[in-house]
Amino acid sequence: MGMPQPWVLSLLLVLLPRTWGADTRPPLLYHLTAVSNPSKGSPSFWATGWLGPQQYLSYDSLRQEAQPCGAWVWENQVSWYWEKETVDLRSKQELFLKALGALETQISGQEGDFTLQGLLGCELNPNNSSLPTAVFALNGETFMEFNPSIGNWSGEWPETELVGNLWMKLPEVAKKESEFLLTSCPERLLGHLERGLQYLEWKEPPSMRLKARPGNSGSSLLTCAAFSFYPPELKLRFLRSGLAAGSGNSSFGPNGDGSFYASSLLEVRRGDEHHYQCQVEHKGLQQPLTVDLDAPARSSVPVVGIILGFLVVLVAAAGGVLLWHRMRSGLPAPWLSLSGDDSGDLLPGGNLPPEADPQGANTIPATS
Ligand SMILES: *[C@@H]1O[C@H](CO)[C@@H](O)[C@H](O)[C@H]1NC(C)=O
Ligand SMILES: *[C@@H]1O[C@H](CO)[C@@H](O)[C@H](O)[C@H]1NC(C)=O
Ligand SMILES: *[C@@H]1O[C@H](CO)[C@@H](O)[C@H](O)[C@H]1NC(C)=O
Ligand SMILES: *[C@@H]1O[C@H](CO)[C@@H](O)[C@H](O)[C@H]1NC(C)=O
Repeated sequence: MGMPQPWVLSLLLVLLPRTWGADTRPPLLYHLTAVSNPSKGSPSFWATGWLGPQQYLSYDSLRQEAQPCGAWVWENQVSWYWEKETVDLRSKQELFLKALGALETQISGQEGDFTLQGLLGCELNPNNSSLPTAVFALNGETFMEFNPSIGNWSGEWPETELVGNLWMKLPEVAKKESEFLLTSCPERLLGHLERGLQYLEWKEPPSMRLKARPGNSGSSLLTCAAFSFYPPELKLRFLRSGLAAGSGNSSFGPNGDGSFYASSLLEVRRGDEHHYQCQVEHKGLQQPLTVDLDAPARSSVPVVGIILGFLVVLVAAAGGVLLWHRMRSGLPAPWLSLSGDDSGDLLPGGNLPPEADPQGANTIPATS
């Protein structure tokens, strides 16, 4: 499926905290990324599509096909829907890669690689017209915007002129971009709200596993992992003999198929591991689920002390502000905000020890 990447996650984290009620309608947003020097076997361009906090689409330059994500694979869409998404994203890919080519030839002496990103999409006005969003970032800095009613790209940076002029010169591109933002986007959004409203309510409980491995100097490292859940809000904590023992060091991210993973690491005294359990709370579970070390079944020990020291980590709430909201109020988009040193931890599986394998014998199908 999609290419889980740190800047996708950075977008995601700021999108999470908002929930969409009956009278607020979620935005439809496309997040596009092109890199000038992709590593071998990875795409030079990829895109994700979001309906509010839910990823419904993924696309990359290797497959060159827009595909539904998560529960949206079951959406009863008109036959040409995904072909239209594919055609649009292929043309965006071409534009982005052309822009990177122009940047590389014209901007000499600049160290490093280029990452060009775009955030395109719309919200719905009360009269169902489009309230468009179209901003672009270069190496993590917002440098250009598109105005769909005028049909031009503008910005203050020297690179804006280079990319804006390049795209202006291509026939029909500005017109198509305006159409995309003012017509296709609100139509698609209305269509999804009509056909797929129930998927915005999609709940997928996590599969859980608690593992131990030797740590440094007489310690043991406990890993509590939650696989493939939706929505992204999840609480994880450790219990020792039924009492809260802390939340550990958590990592969290998208799986790229619309679902999320989370794991938490706790250092304990060696030999003490078997006193520990991991407890998870999630909307997909009717009640908190307690997981024993390496035990394939639900714990039979009743959980006491839930109220005592209710130490909970809200794994998801890292952002706090909606990106789209930020941009409305004129704040810069937090592009690439979790790249660099953080990226290793934020890539799915990056922080999971090798034995924390979702197919493992101790995975609990946590349906309740
Ligand atoms: C907007 O779209 C919704 C859903 O299709 C529809 O129920 C509503 O009547 C539309 N509103 C207007 C003002 O056209
Ligand atoms: C729809 O509403 C927006 C503001 O909510 C307004 O700017 C726009 O002119 C309206 N469009 C139509 C066709 O009435
Ligand atoms: C885009 O439109 C704005 C406002 O009309 C103008 O100031 C700007 O120069 C235009 N940019 C380009 C690249 O044509
Ligand atoms: C948890 O994070 C803290 C601070 O970053 C670090 O000192 C500690 O070693 C980490 N613990 C584990 C078990 O990774």
